[in-house]
Formats: sequence, C-alpha cells, structure tokens
Amino acid sequence: MSPIKVAPSILASNFADLGNEIRAIDKAGADYIHIDVMDGHFVPNISIGPCVVEAIRPVTTKIFDVHLMIAPVDPYIEAFANAGADIITIHPEAGPHAHRTLQHIKSLGKKAGVSINPGTPIDHIEHLMDLVDLVLIMTVNPGYGGQKFIDMSDKIYQAKKLIDKQGRHIDLEVDGGITPETSKIVRDAGADVLVAGSAIFKHPEDQYENVISEIRG
Ligand code: DX5
Ligand code: ZN
Repeated sequence: MSPIKVAPSILASNFADLGNEIRAIDKAGADYIHIDVMDGHFVPNISIGPCVVEAIRPVTTKIFDVHLMIAPVDPYIEAFANAGADIITIHPEAGPHAHRTLQHIKSLGKKAGVSINPGTPIDHIEHLMDLVDLVLIMTVNPGYGGQKFIDMSDKIYQAKKLIDKQGRHIDLEVDGGITPETSKIVRDAGADVLVAGSAIFKHPEDQYENVISEIRG
C-alpha cells in the first residue's frame, strides 16, 4: 500500500449531486474525504456547515477530514464532532487559543489537526505538536478552490522535522493547487496526505480513479 494518501476536497464537487460525488471518490480510492468549512470572515468564501457533514456521513465509511477556516472556531467544534468528523483541523491564525482548541478536539475523542497559511511561519505550531495528529501546510491562501500552487517545500520540510522529533505518526498534509504535476514537489518535500479539489472534480467521474492514482504518484 502506498504511504501517500489522497484527500479529495468536495468543495470542487457538484453540490447538486453531493452524495453520488462522495460515493464516486470513495470507489475511486480516496483515503480521506476533505471537507472545507468557510465562514465569510476568516476567509472570504462561505461553504459547508455541520448539517451538511451530518447529511453525508452515512454515505461513506472513509475518514472525514474537516478543515475549519472559521473564526471564532471554539463554539463550533462540538457540532462538527457530533456531525461525524474524524479529524478536525483548525488555523492558529483564526484565534488566540489554538492550544486550548486542540485540547478540546482531543477531549471529544477526535484527531486534531493544525493548519498554517502560506504567510505563517512554522514556529507558530512548534508548541502545539504534542497535541496534533495532523499538520496541514497550505499551498494557497485559503478561501477558494482552483488557485495556483505556491511552492512551500521549505516549510513542508521544516514540518517534517518537527514531526520526526515527536517520534509518533503525524499526518503531513498539503492543501491547495495540488495536481498530478505539483504533487511530486510536495511528496519530495515530505508530505504524505495530499488534498486535491479541482484537479479531480474537473474531470468526468470515470476519470477520478486515474487522477487520484496520478496524484498519489
Ligand atoms: C482552500 C481549501 C482547499 C481547496 C483545494 O481554501 O482549503 O481544500 O478546496 O482546492 P484545489 O485543489 O482546487 O486547490
Ligand atoms: Zn482544505
């Protein structure tokens, strides 16, 4: 089995047919289902809330990788946990108490992730590493699918060093502008979970499997 996981972002899927889109990526070999939650405040766009997560939960047994781009985040953690999230990832830039938020996620029995924007230095997460199961390095500024990849190889490499120091498995995920072409750059830098939205969903359903395996490399 490849050590590289692919997490299709349903933000780029056909929302009018969301259940079938999820069934299709499940069958096509998706490892995680990446769910982008946007609030029109921390990021300019508005997307999915807990009721949608709850509605799609029965459609697949794959891991729900919920990426919260919302501020404040604390009042909504429990709702996403109850809706069926498996991994809940937050942005330390979105609030003053990232450590407390991660503790809260862990106390609900969920995996906790921390994500940083292209302009945020890696030091922001150094003192959170004890609590995290996933580090997400953004390779676009969050808010929209379909943006151009920003090469963050240096930061991925630095994150890998922080992970290695922990001596336990922590996912190193990359999100934004990932295609069969850019995936090699991030895999070479050490990423092991690759989020991809438009690169997958711009194709007809019968090509999802091919694109997912090209991204996996
Ligand atoms: C950006 C989101 C991404 C986005 C990825 O704010 O966090 O997950 O949907 O989309 P693509 O792969 O199209 O860049
Ligand atoms: Zn995302």
